Amino acid sequence: MADPLRLGIAGLGTVGTGIVRIVQSHAALLERRAGRPIVISAVSARSRTKNRPVDLSDYAWEDDPVALARRADVDVFVEVMGGSEGPAKAATEAAIASGKDVVTANKALLAHHGQALAEAAEAKGHVIRFEAAVAGGIPVIKALTEGLAGNEIRRVMGVMNGTCNYILTRMESAGLPYETVFEEARQLGYLEADPNLDVGGVDAGHKLSLLAAIAFGTKVSFDAVELEGIGRISIDDIRRAADMGYKIKLLGVAQMTGRGLEQSMSPCLVPADSPLGQLQGGTNMVVLEGDSVGQIVMRGAGAGEGPTASAILGDVIDIARGTRLSTFGQPAATLAEPVAAKATSPAPHYLRMELADKPGALAKVATVLGDEGISIDRMRQYGHADTSAPVLIVTHKCTREAIAHALSRLPATGVIVGEPVAIRIENV
Ligand code: HSE
Repeated sequence: MADPLRLGIAGLGTVGTGIVRIVQSHAALLERRAGRPIVISAVSARSRTKNRPVDLSDYAWEDDPVALARRADVDVFVEVMGGSEGPAKAATEAAIASGKDVVTANKALLAHHGQALAEAAEAKGHVIRFEAAVAGGIPVIKALTEGLAGNEIRRVMGVMNGTCNYILTRMESAGLPYETVFEEARQLGYLEADPNLDVGGVDAGHKLSLLAAIAFGTKVSFDAVELEGIGRISIDDIRRAADMGYKIKLLGVAQMTGRGLEQSMSPCLVPADSPLGQLQGGTNMVVLEGDSVGQIVMRGAGAGEGPTASAILGDVIDIARGTRLSTFGQPAATLAEPVAAKATSPAPHYLRMELADKPGALAKVATVLGDEGISIDRMRQYGHADTSAPVLIVTHKCTREAIAHALSRLPATGVIVGEPVAIRIENV
């Protein structure tokens, strides 16, 4: 019989115990697929005494994940602790230094240190696999590095944070304000310990930067992702956008343009009847566009025990089979230094504003838009009882700069009440 592949699992939260559960319950299936047994040698977590839903009695215990990473009876270091620094980084570095392959779910670690870790691993002939780090159970890393390897990738897009999608779709379905649904999400345990990772777009930005590195052959450049979270999205925006046939999503878009690599993670409107528009609850969706293949849409659970453990096991089985891919789909040393470009590609925009109800108000707004070269596609003014009228405008394609200019000029018209809102529309 072929030698077993021996895992050391660092982190025994939801995902870690999910991995143990699959290794225990699917041992025969994993062995058939991998051509050798997949076994666990040792585990590590912060608390040894915590009550866990799996039997760990057959495995050695290490208090220190670095010690686990260095164990001679571990072939693959499985890192499911999380965090871009501290123990996760130290243990991953120790694993690479002591000649192990690494399978990780840690998007923050790779977004900040992926290049250095990949170079270190590849210099020693070892691999780092991270399917579980992006969009949970959706095999998007495999799709990009393997299935679509013959394509020039045009664009990568996606909803990659389930918590934000839960909040936005729940606001719409229940008609509740952001603050109420945020609190609901917290009580359901959907939010990361630092909620800004979710609602500030950081977690999704980490994931987008990893996909962009593979898609465009560039070093991971998370710092260049233009990030905006969902905190400013109001129930009014969601309702009005729905009236115009759109849904609001925290959408990541990465594309290589003549000016450089654009990466943005921000609230966008998408057509309500598009696959992205129909995405409900905590589900993720990734849209990949290649020159030969056209558009591929992948949808599935972006977090949780089963989906994340499923992605980890996919990587583990690849290693057991002898598949040795470069971390980012090409040797890390050959990845280009990206030139960061602001996302300036023209796009239609949605504008929401309150206009003073007096003659000529709309004309003044239309004049400002016209002066900035912004053409109106559709417009709606809502019935109103007080002295200001809610107005929605959908523009034809225009640049973000033009919109910003127009917004800065609107107060001087003297007809705007409160702050106008502008959100980009992605027609996908
Ligand atoms: N908090 C993330 C989400 C899962 O809500 O999608 C981990 O990246």
